[in-house]
Amino acid sequence: MIEFKKAVKKYGTTKVLDEIDLNIKPGEFVSVIGPSGAGKSTLVYALIGAEKLSSGVISVDGFRINRMNQKEMQYYRRRIGVVFQDYRLLPQKTVFENIAFALEVCGYREEDIRKLVLDALHTVGLNASFGKRFPHQISGGEKQRCAIARALVHGPGLIIADEPTGNLDPDTGLEIIKLLEKINQDGITVILTTHNKDLVNFLKKRVIKIDDGKIVSDKGEGRYE
Ligand SMILES: Nc1ncnc2c1ncn2[C@@H]1O[C@H](COP(=O)(O)OP(=O)(O)O)[C@@H](O)[C@H]1O
Ligand SMILES: [Mg+2]
Repeated sequence: MIEFKKAVKKYGTTKVLDEIDLNIKPGEFVSVIGPSGAGKSTLVYALIGAEKLSSGVISVDGFRINRMNQKEMQYYRRRIGVVFQDYRLLPQKTVFENIAFALEVCGYREEDIRKLVLDALHTVGLNASFGKRFPHQISGGEKQRCAIARALVHGPGLIIADEPTGNLDPDTGLEIIKLLEKINQDGITVILTTHNKDLVNFLKKRVIKIDDGKIVSDKGEGRYE
């Protein structure tokens, strides 16, 4: 269970998140929509513990993000997977190595890493042979699939994708959204931010609209014109 209680983030005197109250249940697929500058990424950064709230609380499964000690934060980060618009793949590493990297840092055994990476590639619909390529040798959609495989490889309960289709053409973007939908059907909670109304209308899932740091609507199967 994810809970925001009067979450406020200020930069200077500007409230970028303005008393956000929000509950997300395990297994939900939640889209956060809103114009550029609305506060979507700030909400994501606060949720992953990369930006500290100015006031209020975000808690995940009873743990308060701002109160976690280093060990709890490390554990929390392993329970979530994060995907960004710009993929954030390491250019000097192959697709396989990019996906394997976090597991290596955690000290997994080589044969376990190999199996987990191949499983993750399979889940995102990339042939095992993609493992040998470098990021500059694959398309944008394939890069985002690789980034999603990296987010999934350690078996998280929550995937947070911040504008994952922002750099992709509409058809490729839709493929990525369908992949997130499939991942959600496997029981993983998904939080997606986007400013693309067509994608959330396709999904027919819960849509939270934010504007100027505030939640302006929260609908079960929202359609946005
Ligand atoms: N580090 C920062 N310092 C100052 N202002 C910031 C910072 N990060 C974001 N902002 C401002 O906060 C607002 C919301 O940004 P952001 O969360 O990135 O919006 P979105 O992801 O919805 O486009 C914007 O007005 C942006 O300029
Ligand atoms: Mg953003």
